[in-house]
Amino acid sequence: MADDSSSSTTSKRSKNRWSLQGMTAVVTGGTKGIGYAIVEELCGFGARVHTCSRNETDLNKCLIDWQAKGFQVTGSVCDVSSQDQREKLINTVSSEFDGKLNILINNVGTNIPKPTPNFTKEDFSFIMGTNFESAYSLCQLAYPLLKASGAASIVFLSSVCGVVSISVGSIYGATKGAMNQLAKYLACEWAKDNIRVNSVAPWFIRTPLAEPYIENFSETIISRTPMGRIGEAEEVSSLVGFLCLPAASYITGQTICIDGGMTVNACFYPEMLLQKNFQAIDHSLTSLN
Ligand SMILES: NC(=O)c1ccc[n+]([C@@H]2O[C@H](COP(=O)([O-])OP(=O)(O)OC[C@H]3O[C@@H](n4cnc5c(N)ncnc54)[C@H](OP(=O)(O)O)[C@@H]3O)[C@@H](O)[C@H]2O)c1
Repeated sequence: MADDSSSSTTSKRSKNRWSLQGMTAVVTGGTKGIGYAIVEELCGFGARVHTCSRNETDLNKCLIDWQAKGFQVTGSVCDVSSQDQREKLINTVSSEFDGKLNILINNVGTNIPKPTPNFTKEDFSFIMGTNFESAYSLCQLAYPLLKASGAASIVFLSSVCGVVSISVGSIYGATKGAMNQLAKYLACEWAKDNIRVNSVAPWFIRTPLAEPYIENFSETIISRTPMGRIGEAEEVSSLVGFLCLPAASYITGQTICIDGGMTVNACFYPEMLLQKNFQAIDHSLTSLN
């Protein structure tokens, strides 16, 4: 007779590990960039998705496109930096999904790049409120729904700026670092409710938010990326989708960088690894001996 552990492994295997069929999801900021790709990724795995953004025209256009693709997506206008609007969003989601939610993706994020001495109190509240406070509050508001689903997953869209310093603004970096730590706390606090919580931390990804940086610094960005290119939104959404799958059922509290190797590249940048450079170093060393 099989022991408990092997039978539980077998039952996990026989479940639909690579599907989100029958599951429900909220993705904040789904009309552009990474959020848009996440909506499509989750729908592709079979989930029903509710998304939001501030611009009604963009939202309606996206909903029409998704309907044409056969995806089950609904949406509402919501500025996630407003507590009233967050409450309204979660009430809408609760009615739509019968009080149960399997997936919460805290994707909305913004930035004002400035040197630290130049930041105003208003900048601080705007970036903190949009990036961190909104995500924290949505976790609180969605908790009863996530718990009621029996198996849930929260993913934060953090950034490599929350792991290392990359000079795009200290407030932005602090909000992303806070998300990574919040993922650890909630992972431990809510594991008993079968809610997993993870953070994904991209480097530069081609989206409207990153476009001005890419336009001005693409050479520098690429030169610091071992894979030698900028990332695409679909390369982030695939990881987010994976983290929500039953296949990822033992992964919680993690921060995973999606960065073409940037954060592990301590010293030499890719162009320095060219054969001719090695030869030059070898030549100099030989002349020393
Ligand atoms: N792109 C990158 O290189 C990169 C790198 C690391 C981390 N990230 C993170 O990844 C996440 C997504 O970034 P992205 O590049 O895809 O951004 P994006 O291109 O600017 O798209 C942001 C989405 O969020 C919505 N949104 C913005 N503020 C909102 C608010 N207050 N309430 C509701 N919706 C709002 C936008 O629609 P509306 O403007 O119409 O509301 C849009 O749909 C962010 O958290 C960002 O910090 C991005």
